[in-house]
Amino acid sequence: MRLDKYICDCTGLTRNQAGKLIRQRAITVNGNVAKQAAMKLSAADEVQLDGESISPIGLRYLVMNKPAGYVCGLDDPHHPAVFSLLDEPAAEKIHSVGRLDVDTTGLLLLTDDGQWSHRISSPRHHIAKTYRVWTADSISAAAVTQFEQGVVLRDEPSPTKPAQLELVDSHEALLTIHEGRYHQVKRMFAALGNRVEQLHRERIGGLQLPTDLDLGAYRPLHADELLAVFAN
Ligand code: URA
Repeated sequence: MRLDKYICDCTGLTRNQAGKLIRQRAITVNGNVAKQAAMKLSAADEVQLDGESISPIGLRYLVMNKPAGYVCGLDDPHHPAVFSLLDEPAAEKIHSVGRLDVDTTGLLLLTDDGQWSHRISSPRHHIAKTYRVWTADSISAAAVTQFEQGVVLRDEPSPTKPAQLELVDSHEALLTIHEGRYHQVKRMFAALGNRVEQLHRERIGGLQLPTDLDLGAYRPLHADELLAVFAN
């Protein structure tokens, strides 16, 4: 691989920026200052930037405890994006796996691996997601059966897939759904005449929100957590 391409893969910089670093004599290969952007590297070569070894970033799989007030897209002029909380090279390559509403908190996966996020989001894989829900009005015991049987959401022809509701308190419940329609949880409660006041995602597949993450914090997923996502 060419040296400038390798620098880009390690840092997320552009070819021009990589070339500039080379001209500034900031790059060494096996201890020698590199002069040619087109220099061919072999697997054993050690490249350093300002005296620090660099290696390709690779694909990233992150878990965040999303705080309220942040959006999962880049098109909202009024709220910061969750990506602004990332301190990662080439952060612009990272997207969220599905979206949580601006006021929803909790488990959010982030990655630059489009195939992985597609596998998690695709309705074909039926990956369960569990939300802790606090509502304006008390939740009736009948809601358990209604959600299990499916409810019809406003402006949608087909009912929701069976969802499991576990009552925690008169105004608090855990809801597990197996699809990801727009504002699904809020609209499911609206279909029963109730209103979600607070929403927190606790689980995706077999992955619980890690307890070591404060609101707004994130970290790479551990190997066992990567597998747990696909264990329903
Ligand atoms: N359902 C919602 O209504 N909002 C979310 O953020 C996630 C699921």
